[in-house]
Amino acid sequence: MDMINVNIVNNGEKQPNELLQAQAHVWNHIFNFINSMCLKCAIDLGIPDIIQSHGEPMTVPQLVASLPNINSAKASNIYRLMRVLVHSGFFAKQNLGENGQEQGYGYVLTGASRLLLKGNPLSVTPFLKAMLDPALTEPWHLLGAWFQNDEPTPFGTAHGRPFWEYMGHDPKLNHLFNEAMASDARLVTTLLLDDKVKGAFDFEGLKSLVDVGGGTGTVAKAIADAFPHLDCIVFDLPHVVVGLEGNGNFKYVGGDMFEAIPDADAVLLKWILHDWNDEECVKILKHSKEAISRCGKEGKVIIIDMVLKEKNQKAEESSVETQLFFDMLMMVLVTGRERNEKEWAKLFFSAGFTHYKITPILGLRSLIELYP
Ligand SMILES: C[S@@+](CC[C@H](N)C(=O)[O-])C[C@H]1O[C@@H](n2cnc3c(N)ncnc32)[C@H](O)[C@@H]1O
Repeated sequence: MDMINVNIVNNGEKQPNELLQAQAHVWNHIFNFINSMCLKCAIDLGIPDIIQSHGEPMTVPQLVASLPNINSAKASNIYRLMRVLVHSGFFAKQNLGENGQEQGYGYVLTGASRLLLKGNPLSVTPFLKAMLDPALTEPWHLLGAWFQNDEPTPFGTAHGRPFWEYMGHDPKLNHLFNEAMASDARLVTTLLLDDKVKGAFDFEGLKSLVDVGGGTGTVAKAIADAFPHLDCIVFDLPHVVVGLEGNGNFKYVGGDMFEAIPDADAVLLKWILHDWNDEECVKILKHSKEAISRCGKEGKVIIIDMVLKEKNQKAEESSVETQLFFDMLMMVLVTGRERNEKEWAKLFFSAGFTHYKITPILGLRSLIELYP
C-alpha cells in the first residue's frame, strides 16, 4: 500500500495517470498472446483465403456467410475477431461508399495477410502452424520451473526429451516442423536467388555444396537448379531425409553433424547455429571447416542467421523485439541463442576461421560468409 502511495503522490499532487499507465502496460503484456491466438484462429477458419477469393472488399455478413461450419449463435462474434486483426495489421477496412457517402465497409487483405494465403508460394502459414502448435507453446508455461530444475530446455521439462529427439518420435509434429522450415526456406531462397541479390550467393570456382541440417531440401534443390555446375548434398538427421530421393546434381545424405559432415567446397548452415549453445556451435563449425578443407583457402562456410542489433544501431522497435523473441524461443525449445556480431566472431575464431563477412540482406537475418 505504501508503495502505491509513493508512486501516485508527487509534489503533494496525486499522479493517477502514472499508475493507470502502468496498469495498462501490464494488461497489454498479460494479453499479448491474444494477438497470436486470434491470428491462428483466422488461419484455422481460412479467413485470408476467403477474402482473397471474394475478389473485392468483403462485408461482415458476406464473410460470415462464406465461413465454413460457423455456429449461427456465434456468427455475430466474427466482427469482434476481425476488429482485433484489423488493429494488428492483418486486414484493413475499406469504405464501400461512393463519392464520400457512408455505405459501410468491407475487409481487404494487407501485405501481412497476403503472406498467409495458401496459394502464395512464399506463404508463412506452415511456420505459424508449427510455432503455435500446443506442443511448442506448452513449454512456455514451464519457463519459470526450468530456471529451477536441471533440464537443458523448457521443451525437455514439458515433453521429457530434447526437441530433435522428440521430432523423431512424433511423425505428425516432425512433418509440421519440416513444412515450417521448408516454407521459410522457400522465402529466403527466392530472395537470395533473385537476380538483384544473386551475387550474394557467390559460388564462383566452387564445385560442390553441402546444406547441413538442410531439412527436406528446399534450399539445396533451388541452388542445384540455379547453379547446375554445383553438386548439392542435403545433410540432415535420418528421420528427416528418410524416403527422400535426389536427382541430377542433388542428393540426400542422412547423418549427425556432431559426428562428421560430408566433404564439399562450401557448407551452408541456414538457421542451424542459433539452435545450439557456444560449445556445440564450435563443434559444428570445426566439422564444417574439416568438410571444406580439401578446397584449401578457396572453400567457405555460408551461415544464414540473425545478428542481433546493438543498442547504438538504428532499428525499428518491432524488429528489436522480434529478435529478442527469437532468442527466447531458442532458449525454450533448444539449447541455442541469437548472437550479436561480437559473439559470432568469438565462435568463428574459436573454430579456427580467419575472417568473415556479414551481409545484412535478409531483413532480421544476415548472410555470413566464413573463410578458413
Ligand atoms: C531450424 S531447422 C533448419 C532447417 C533448414 N536449414 C532451414 O533453414 O529451412 C534445423 C535442422 O537441423 C537438423 N538437425 C538437428 N540436429 C541435427 C544433427 N545432429 N545433424 C544434422 N542435422 C540436424 C534438424 O533436423 C532440422 O532440419
